[in-house]
Amino acid sequence: MLRNKQIGFVGSGNMGEALIHGLLHGHLCRPEQILCSDVRPERLKTIREKYGVRGTSHNSEVVKQSDIVILAVKPQIMKQVIEEVAKHLDLTKLIISIAAGVPLDAIESCARKELKLIRVMSNICVSVREGVSAIAGGRHASKEDLMMAKTIFDSVGKSILIEEYLLDAVTGLSGSGPAYIFLIIDALADAGVKVGLSRDDALIMASQTVLGAAKMLIETGEHPGKLKDMVTSPGGTAIAGLHTLEQGGLRTTLINAVEVATERSKALGEMMKNNLANEKP
Ligand SMILES: NC(=O)c1ccc[n+]([C@@H]2O[C@H](COP(=O)([O-])OP(=O)(O)OC[C@H]3O[C@@H](n4cnc5c(N)ncnc54)[C@H](OP(=O)(O)O)[C@@H]3O)[C@@H](O)[C@H]2O)c1
Repeated sequence: MLRNKQIGFVGSGNMGEALIHGLLHGHLCRPEQILCSDVRPERLKTIREKYGVRGTSHNSEVVKQSDIVILAVKPQIMKQVIEEVAKHLDLTKLIISIAAGVPLDAIESCARKELKLIRVMSNICVSVREGVSAIAGGRHASKEDLMMAKTIFDSVGKSILIEEYLLDAVTGLSGSGPAYIFLIIDALADAGVKVGLSRDDALIMASQTVLGAAKMLIETGEHPGKLKDMVTSPGGTAIAGLHTLEQGGLRTTLINAVEVATERSKALGEMMKNNLANEKP
């Protein structure tokens, strides 16, 4: 699907590199098909040397030479970047923005033209090819464009197609989710230390338990409640621990956390939209 496409990255930081790695690792394209830009020459040098891709300090070159342009700069830089490359953008190119909180219509209004746009919300776990990405198509994105985006983001984990209005919820759950799980693992490791394990052993046990439980859930396709029931024996240890977690309100706390992060994402998105609109000359 990507064999004959030139793929450009505007911004070659953490996310850009993770995607380049995923594409090449999955043999979805050849290094010569990738052209990336960045403001930092040393960053470009690293990416070029590590992956054999081409690099340039000119964002416009990337846009000019690419069929698929991935905008991978920080949200606050997006306006500047879109205005810089706008004259080379047109409906023949697929533009994929991964900038958190930047709506599709804000990108079009910044470019002052209609574009074939896709917006994606991923998470940091793309760096170990276990991310989850939610993909929302703009009005000119075809089914084939969405499938192309899916191919790209599946190379760094799993991806799902979604409506744009749900991306705040995605940010609240899987976008911010790694932070919640890091906290849970840290807390479990503390607990292990409290009951006498070494810090190192406790951390391995806590993180491998989270990984194993997630893998088991995904591989069996079972409902988590069923697997929970399977590992709780009458009068046993797991049910005693679960009772304490329910008493402490873990389930409600997690629901509240996702809800509040979703609201925060909406508020930040509104601020971003206003900034992009207000700053227009
Ligand atoms: N990291 C995540 O977990 C995550 C998750 C979901 C979505 N995202 C989104 O992904 C996007 C990229 O995030 P990231 O973590 O990869 O950021 P990053 O590591 O800071 O990468 C962005 C790169 O773009 C460079 N840059 C700055 N201004 C530029 C310009 N005008 N033209 C070209 N390149 C420029 C940056 O250089 P400087 O460092 O010198 O500014 C940096 O090397 C963001 O919009 C973010 O919202 C990130």
